[in-house]
Amino acid sequence: MSVAAEMTSIEPRIAELIRHSMALRETDGVAGPCAGVLRDVVSQALTSSEGGKRLRARLALAAFDQATHGDASDERRAGMLDLACAIEVFQTAALVHDDIIDESDLRRGKPSAHRALSQATHSDAIGRGLGIMLGDLLATASVDIADDASRRLASSDGIVAAFLNMHKEVEVGQVLDLAVELAPLDDPAALADASLNVFRWKTASYTTIAPIELALLAAGHDPDESRRTALAIGRPLGLAFQLADDLLDVVGSSSRTGKPVGGDIREGKRTVLLADALDMASPAERDELVDAFSAPSRGDDRVGRVIALFESTGAVARSRERIAALWDESRAAIAGTCAGDAPEDRAFAEACARFVPLA
Ligand code: IPE
Ligand code: IPE
Ligand code: MG
Ligand code: MG
Ligand code: MG
Repeated sequence: MSVAAEMTSIEPRIAELIRHSMALRETDGVAGPCAGVLRDVVSQALTSSEGGKRLRARLALAAFDQATHGDASDERRAGMLDLACAIEVFQTAALVHDDIIDESDLRRGKPSAHRALSQATHSDAIGRGLGIMLGDLLATASVDIADDASRRLASSDGIVAAFLNMHKEVEVGQVLDLAVELAPLDDPAALADASLNVFRWKTASYTTIAPIELALLAAGHDPDESRRTALAIGRPLGLAFQLADDLLDVVGSSSRTGKPVGGDIREGKRTVLLADALDMASPAERDELVDAFSAPSRGDDRVGRVIALFESTGAVARSRERIAALWDESRAAIAGTCAGDAPEDRAFAEACARFVPLA
């Protein structure tokens, strides 16, 4: 299926599923003065859901089509579309919480959810609180949608268990992402290892591993084999994707990513880029980087200087090499586990390649 056709089926279905899943079941109404805020939150659920690249849904659908050789019944394919949308609803939930954690004001080219809700309620504290609850509502909706979809697919219990495991892995990953902020800066190799390990949990888990695993389960494959294949392809691919995301934070443009440039540096995030820069810096440059990242905050000038150091020390180039090596690893697993020249095989390889635009 072409990208445009795929997006045409994914986009409206996400909105429809969110509307359905967020509707209250009880006939009891919500008291007048509060109903407006609830409406704002539900409307923000739809706004926050718009504008994603849908890489995860498209990967899941491509993996399913490959596993079923494009022969699934219409009912099963529709079930798989809903399961793919459930992953995207979870992605939006994770991003709403992530922007609160990372204090990010911009998401998908618009104010992040908690910022928009702060504006709507004229209160930063209430906006942040509503953002936390919106993330929870979307996370719950994602399970509801996945559960419903699983009933139309093979191994329905296994699908729900794998979906919940995906939630848990990302939650653990976001905890580890905060923990790494406390890591010392005097051992760049340990910092790079810790950071790459966080990527496996916070990103690869739901970005590349779960979409493949869920699709293979939905196609009726053996659970252990589905997990093994998903890990072999998805682990290196997910790491490469997060490395590319961190790189785009430095070399990308806000108009293309829909996120602030240099946001990770402003936030003081301990990235693989920082570890590589510390590793290759001169003693004077290292002191400058340690000073910048030990300061309570970083203004525009410092962010600009750190970006220049990431380039001049060779950290940007090393990240590109890391991405290329991980993509090679993933490509070998793609070829090893599902080599073929059918249109579905090629479409699956293309869906994987979309995660590494910088390779
Ligand atoms: C952003 O993912 C979060 C990361 C794991 C880096 P995407 O870049 O896929 O975000 P959307 O869904 O397209 O907005
Ligand atoms: C990935 O990390 C976010 C999630 C796992 C939800 P980032 O914090 O780098 O993602 P962006 O850059 O804000 O999209
Ligand atoms: Mg973030
Ligand atoms: Mg984050
Ligand atoms: Mg990022």
